[in-house]
Amino acid sequence: MSTHPVVNAAVIGCGVIGPTHAAALSLDGRVRLRWACDVETDRATALGAERNTTDWRTVLTDPDLHLVCVCTPHPSHAEIAAAALAAGKHVLVEKPLGSRPEKVHALLAAAAARPGLVAAGVFQHRFAPLARRLRQLAAAGDLGPVEDAEVVFRCTRDAAYYASGAWRGTWDGEGGGVLINQAIHTLDLALWLAADAPVAVAATVERRRMACIQVEDHAAGEVVLRGGARVAFTVANDGVTRWSQDIRLRWRHAEIRLGDGHRLTGLRVANAALEAELRALAAIDLDGMRLPGKAVYGSHHALQVADTVDAIIAGRPPFVSVADAWMTNQVVLAAYHATAGGSPVGLPLVDLRQPTLTLPAGTP
Ligand SMILES: NC(=O)c1ccc[n+]([C@@H]2O[C@H](COP(=O)([O-])OP(=O)(O)OC[C@H]3O[C@@H](n4cnc5c(N)ncnc54)[C@H](O)[C@@H]3O)[C@@H](O)[C@H]2O)c1
Repeated sequence: MSTHPVVNAAVIGCGVIGPTHAAALSLDGRVRLRWACDVETDRATALGAERNTTDWRTVLTDPDLHLVCVCTPHPSHAEIAAAALAAGKHVLVEKPLGSRPEKVHALLAAAAARPGLVAAGVFQHRFAPLARRLRQLAAAGDLGPVEDAEVVFRCTRDAAYYASGAWRGTWDGEGGGVLINQAIHTLDLALWLAADAPVAVAATVERRRMACIQVEDHAAGEVVLRGGARVAFTVANDGVTRWSQDIRLRWRHAEIRLGDGHRLTGLRVANAALEAELRALAAIDLDGMRLPGKAVYGSHHALQVADTVDAIIAGRPPFVSVADAWMTNQVVLAAYHATAGGSPVGLPLVDLRQPTLTLPAGTP
């Protein structure tokens, strides 16, 4: 590998996750952090990039810039990423791509118009070695058709968390609550592993306990897949559980259960050799390698940044394109539409507006 930088990168949005992108980029000898951009000057400066600015449009005018990591709050993701693609830059966009379907559609169109550019969407848990192999097996039909799945996710995000950014906990800023921000990772992993397209979503989102936010702290529902299987989900910011996830997936010839940190907690497959292979993959301890990424995000985040850089250099598609990431993003938005309309919503979304939801006040 060359030690000379060949990819000039920018991080736009230097709050919690922006520095994690910068740290992952710094691990790659082929990357130079050319720009850090944040409306808060100090946050940009802290990243130690060659150049700092408060204006993301200035970043895009740099003819020598190759990659833009979009790490701002949800409402600006799609707009910045679409503008970056139009300016000829590769992009890695944080989850979710957006809370307004019409803006995400514009991003997907910008990506389709520039097929030579890498347009990646963050869903880092797809990079776990066990997950990649399971998905390969499921997509090839080696596990049989998917029959059903359950996703349970719980966390605690308190008033101090929501006070840490004006965008958090609001419909305009975050576009939702625990479902679109925290649980989206767990739901994405389950849907991706199922390897069948979502065709409808029935859901109810509610605000049960958090009086300080507009958005939901509880959501439950069911995603119907093309083959008829159903993925039931319950996700909550319950004020008790620090972080907990449980995915159960059943195919005709296999069953898997993933617990906290998506660690393997149950496995039934057709033969001993496959079982041994999957258990070996599950034992790979990426977190123990201390790659950048807070424990709760997992070290796979650094793998996704590395994949993006590698895709740029190799001239190949990223492992998770924005079109791939739209799958679960769309399911989440459909859950809000289903709540607003009181009935299941088919996919792809036809109604591209953000639904208007006023949830009854939670208990303080
Ligand atoms: N993949 C993951 O596991 C993971 C983890 C955390 C956050 N995220 C995602 O990353 C995004 C950012 O989250 P965060 O927790 O870092 O938020 P944050 O509020 O801590 O950081 C966002 C930063 O963007 C800056 N900003 C806002 N508007 C801007 C603009 N127009 N131009 C430049 N800078 C602007 C803010 O000043 C802030 O510093 C969200 O989409 C979130 O869902 C993903």
